Amino acid sequence: MKIIGLCSDHAGFELKEDVKKLLDSKGLAYKDFGTNTSDSCDYPDFAHPLASAVEAGEVYPGIAVCGTGNGIAITLNKHQEIRAALCWNAEIAQLSRAHNDANILVLPGRFINKEETTKTIDAFLETPFEGGRHKKRIEKIPL
Ligand code: RB5
Repeated sequence: MKIIGLCSDHAGFELKEDVKKLLDSKGLAYKDFGTNTSDSCDYPDFAHPLASAVEAGEVYPGIAVCGTGNGIAITLNKHQEIRAALCWNAEIAQLSRAHNDANILVLPGRFINKEETTKTIDAFLETPFEGGRHKKRIEKIPL
């Protein structure tokens, strides 16, 4: 596994710090694209650099957090090669990898607890893409 890319806005900052502790405990490397405080900020300022780094192969996969997960997911998915999946439990995360080959996991920081976050991240990191019928579907996504 490569270096995992992280980003959040202020509403996701606290959970991103928890995610870093979780990745530390697993011995997984990561690069944090910010934000670095809980001061109010704009999620695109952090989402675009993470998306570009995933597209460039500098980091993989990504984990991104904002309050609902929606703003940051909408922004990430503007990038042609990004499949950012908003996930709030392990089953959705597992399916986002198996069916969608999601390359960024998006977490709703204000609507998910630490325990569910751990299960969701574990499922995301451990599940391979199934390919097969799902491959031609994801190939039709880029505009
Ligand atoms: C910030 O207040 C909040 O709007 C943001 O984190 C996110 O939920 C937007 O989609």
